[in-house]
Amino acid sequence: MAHKNPIIVALDVPSAESAWKLAELVAPAVGAFKIGKELFVAAGPDIVKKIRATGASVFLDLKFHDIPNTVAKAVAAALRLDVQMLTIHTSGGGEMMRAAEKAAQDTAKSLGLQAPLVLGVTVLTSANNATLAEIGCEADTEKQVLRLAQLAVKSGLRGLVCSPLEIVALRKVLPAHIQLVTPGIRTGAEKADDQKRTLSPREAIQAGASWLVIGRPIYAAENPRLAAEKILESLL
Ligand code: C5P
Repeated sequence: MAHKNPIIVALDVPSAESAWKLAELVAPAVGAFKIGKELFVAAGPDIVKKIRATGASVFLDLKFHDIPNTVAKAVAAALRLDVQMLTIHTSGGGEMMRAAEKAAQDTAKSLGLQAPLVLGVTVLTSANNATLAEIGCEADTEKQVLRLAQLAVKSGLRGLVCSPLEIVALRKVLPAHIQLVTPGIRTGAEKADDQKRTLSPREAIQAGASWLVIGRPIYAAENPRLAAEKILESLL
């Protein structure tokens, strides 16, 4: 995927109509669009195809976590929608991640497409040490993030989703080719919301992020196009 504009706009809206309106409005100022569970469950594959048909890159954020065979088939189905990035949970284990990466490579080859970036999600940022203890994991989120990230790389993944405050620690231990996709970006211009551990777009790129996932600072702005343009300018 061409990697000139690192802004991925999260289309966190409830319908195809509102997603399309937002995408049309901000397209010239952004690098890709993220379609997550809410929009996908509401609007289905058609909205993916419609946005992809404009030439924009699509990040399908459905965070697959299942037995390896099922995840591989879901990845192959996502490839048939021609997405450029998709997510899986690293806690599904090495075999699941290898199956996902293999399905991405094999399906891309058979369709004559470039293989998408299969991104591993480590510990959700909504989880803390108590959450990990509750489910019987090593009760240290930082250690668990590093452990899962290293397992992901060993299993063949080429990218990870991480919080802004994990970028530096991950960059220290991961090979340089690993792409880091980072939500939790705030410019300071928006109202306070549920993102607690944030960096500005420029800080995140300087820390080593490859891509920035930005939702509310763009779609909830008075002028989403202008907000995206300002963020892009701040990166130059
Ligand atoms: O509106 P906001 O900029 O907070 O949106 C961030 C996007 O990134 C949302 O789609 C959210 O679900 C996603 N995300 C996140 N934190 C993670 C993983 C994904 O905020 N750890």
